[in-house]
Amino acid sequence: MQVYSLPAEIFNETQRLRFQEKSIGMVPTMGALHEGHFYLVKQARKENDILVVSIFVNPLQFNNQEDLNNYPRTLEKDLSHLEKLGVDLVFAPAEESMYPEKPQVSIDFGQMEQVMEGAFRPGHFSGVGVVVTKLFNICNPTRAYFGKKDMQQYLLVKRMVEDLSQPVEIIGVPIVRESSGLAMSSRNQRLSNDGLEIASSIYKGLAIAKQEWDQAKSPDETKNAAIAFYNKQEGLSIEYINIVSPHDLEDLDDNLNQPAVICVAGFVEGVRLIDNLYLRQD
Ligand code: PAF
Repeated sequence: MQVYSLPAEIFNETQRLRFQEKSIGMVPTMGALHEGHFYLVKQARKENDILVVSIFVNPLQFNNQEDLNNYPRTLEKDLSHLEKLGVDLVFAPAEESMYPEKPQVSIDFGQMEQVMEGAFRPGHFSGVGVVVTKLFNICNPTRAYFGKKDMQQYLLVKRMVEDLSQPVEIIGVPIVRESSGLAMSSRNQRLSNDGLEIASSIYKGLAIAKQEWDQAKSPDETKNAAIAFYNKQEGLSIEYINIVSPHDLEDLDDNLNQPAVICVAGFVEGVRLIDNLYLRQD
């Protein structure tokens, strides 16, 4: 496994590999890797000749300085996991080489970023769009893999690539959960044992919503059932809960057998957690 920190070096290497007609799978990450990432890496490993993982905590996508400072950084441990998973190339740049100057360009995702994460984290998706575009330009992937835990991110990146004709295929990979149902996330490392227990109720509320939906309840009734359950969980405070179309993230006002996903964000012990569940698959 080769580890690169300079954009120009990994660019030359991945371009050389693409000229040799090798397919390159890429998993962009911010490190603090866990089973959820490993699942992405294993899928990408199966489907590509060459596998690149990037590790970069992107300051542009944090709208809260404290969240950026607290973000876990575990490079040595991450590299040893990636080596065992058969990764070929790792790109772990320093901030100065990604952003020699603060970028002036931003990416506006229109309506799709006015809801959910975008509504509560101003500028977050522009920061994601800029870094993902740079990572694609630098690492030349054929396919890039994104976890569906960050459903809005996955859908926005997919849309960005289509709208801007970026030559990469975006693959969405299902959420990996703990046995408690808690969606795996680097942020879970910041929770105490009690916090982990409380956080597992986030998924339980989504599962209750799914039962309602399956009984042909309306989006409002479905949402209210989850909210009633969440209100009873001490230590959990919900920020938003939306039932949306997985195509354009518009609110669904009727249950018309259309694809639907319920998305939630909440806080446990001051840690912001998100999760989602398809009520009806695409
Ligand atoms: O999902 C993440 O870890 C980040 O948002 C990403 C896609 C690596 C961009 O920094």
